[in-house]
Amino acid sequence: MKGIILHGGHGTRLRPLTHTGPKQLLPIANKPMSQYALEDLKKAGVTEIAIIIGDVYPEKVKEYYGDGSNFGVKISYVYQDAPKGISHAIRLCKDFVSGDRFIVYLGDNVLRKDLTDYTKKFHTSDSDAMILLCEVDDPQRFGIAELDKDNPGKIKKISEKPKDPPSNLAVIGIYFLTPKIFDVIDKLKPSWRGEYEITEALQLLMEEGNKINYDTVTGWWKDTGTPEDIIHANKLVLDSIGTEHQFLIDKDAKITDGVVVGKGTTITSDSVIAGPAIIGKNCKIESAKIGPYVSIGDNCILKDCNIENSIIMSECTIDSKTYFSSSIIAHGSEITDSAKRQFLLGERSQLKL
Ligand code: DAU
Repeated sequence: MKGIILHGGHGTRLRPLTHTGPKQLLPIANKPMSQYALEDLKKAGVTEIAIIIGDVYPEKVKEYYGDGSNFGVKISYVYQDAPKGISHAIRLCKDFVSGDRFIVYLGDNVLRKDLTDYTKKFHTSDSDAMILLCEVDDPQRFGIAELDKDNPGKIKKISEKPKDPPSNLAVIGIYFLTPKIFDVIDKLKPSWRGEYEITEALQLLMEEGNKINYDTVTGWWKDTGTPEDIIHANKLVLDSIGTEHQFLIDKDAKITDGVVVGKGTTITSDSVIAGPAIIGKNCKIESAKIGPYVSIGDNCILKDCNIENSIIMSECTIDSKTYFSSSIIAHGSEITDSAKRQFLLGERSQLKL
């Protein structure tokens, strides 16, 4: 089986973070979110992967994943000229798929469970597609499946972001497909939001008498569409991070379990690191309280601050007697004390003082 990861789209809801890169490269527990998709596919035995890239810094995606050899997979890139929809992106991969069953993984979805069992189930079934459903509190945000009341093993209808949702079962962004999907995609028209929707393709596939089965997701699944979603995904991933300390931690520093510290990082004895948390390589942590639920990238300097439930990307300096929470600080940012308040903020920055 082959795999497709969607890495295009505008990332509008995540500005300003997406002014300098695609949203799927934003880190969750110090790893780009799309790498979770890639690793899930690899674990399920899918090692030939096409990555759909769009116009938001596609070169950064190529630079990070390369030909896939660093990740133990073979990657090819497919360019989508504009975000015309998930179905449109899938259609571009017809030659790549070349007649096989395949898995499509949206690069901004993160799933706790690996795909091995679902993949086996699809591989040995006679169904023309398989989707995964997860109960959600806000069904208007997702593709929604309505099950047949008389036969709950069967899907009755799939619709995209319905105003009046018939159920709270979201269709998550991992689709198990056969080449039959290409024929129905060719019959689609753009939706009200101007996109070739995957939900409409699946609905049409069913209406044409093809068999679609489903499985339900146990554990958590996250669509990281908003900054709040990313912070929540970071928390969920950190919950199972484990403990690993490499080097240079002052023996008196208070570090709980569930903390991963990278090589070359120094932590002074008057610091407190409350897990779960991850701290990258070559950071300097001095008189700071970090955690719980904090991810810090490589080469950061954190002094005197108190940070909870946040993502600090690499090369940041936070040298200030400040407390903050639920925040995302992008690469190379600086927060320092000053007698007068002074800001240099990029376009669409958010500051809640
Ligand atoms: O996350 C699950 C949901 O994903 C499903 O429940 C919906 O049925 C499905 O339509 C999709 O909804 P979203 O509105 O959240 O999709 P979004 O526009 O965020 O795009 C999903 C991913 O696919 C994202 O990583 C960007 C990428 N993408 C999107 C489009 C429209 C592309 O690569 N190309 C595209 O043309």
